[in-house]
Amino acid sequence: MSKQIVLYAGMFLTLCACAATNQPIPDDAMGLSKTSVFTDPVPEAFDYPADRPGAGKQYAPPYHTAPPMIPHDVSAYTPITREKNLCVGCHVQPAMLGQAVPKGVPTPVSASHYTDVKAGTLDGGHHVCTACHAPQAKVEPLVENRLGRDR
Ligand code: HEC
Ligand code: HEC
Repeated sequence: MSKQIVLYAGMFLTLCACAATNQPIPDDAMGLSKTSVFTDPVPEAFDYPADRPGAGKQYAPPYHTAPPMIPHDVSAYTPITREKNLCVGCHVQPAMLGQAVPKGVPTPVSASHYTDVKAGTLDGGHHVCTACHAPQAKVEPLVENRLGRDR
C-alpha cells in the first residue's frame, strides 16, 4: 500500500468517526440541570449556618487576595441599605489596623476599604459588603470545581 492510500484511508475513518458523534443531545443531558429542559426543577432548600459573630470560626481563603468568606450568620444585618449597614459597627475599626486580633473579635476591614484610613472614612465602593463577601452553606456544587486540578 502506498503512503497516499494509507493517508486517504485514515482521512475516511476520521470522517466516519465525526459523523458517528454528530448525534442529537438528549434533553436530560443539556445544561447544568440533571432533569429535562422542559421541567422546572425546584432547587433543594438550604440554610446558612446560624453561627453568631464571635464564635471564632474563620474560613481559609480560597486564593490570595480573595475577599474572606463570612463565617457567621448575617440574616439580622442584611439587606444592607444606604441608611443601614450594621457590618460597619463591628468591622470598621481603623484604630485596630495592624494590631493582633484576638479570637472572637471582629477582623478590622483592611486599609484597601478606606478612602482615608486615619479619618476612618469608608470608601463608597466598599459600602455594600455582601457584594464581595458571602456567607457559606453546605450545598452540593452544581458543577465540580476543577480550578487548580487541571493546572
Ligand atoms: C456583632 C458584630 C458583627 C457584625 C454586626 C458583623 N460581624 Fe463579621 N465578624 C464578627 C466577628 C467577631 C468575626 C470573627 C469571626 C468570629 O469570631 O465569628 C467576624 C468575621 C467576619 C469575616 C471574616 C473575616 C476573616 O478575616 O476571615 C467577614 C468577611 C465578615 N465578618 C463580614 C461581615 C459582614 C459583611 C457583615 C454584615 C453583613 C458582618 N460581618 C457583620 C463580628 C461581626
Ligand atoms: C469590592 C469588594 C469588597 C467590598 C464591597 C468589601 N470588601 Fe472586604 N475585602 C475585599 C477583599 C478583596 C479583601 C481581601 C484583600 C484586602 O484585604 O484588601 C477584603 C478583606 C476584608 C476583611 C479581612 C481583613 C483582614 O485583615 O484580613 C474584612 C473583615 C472585610 N473585608 C470586611 C468587609 C466589610 C465589613 C465590608 C463592608 C463595610 C467590606 N469588607 C466590603 C473586598 C471587598
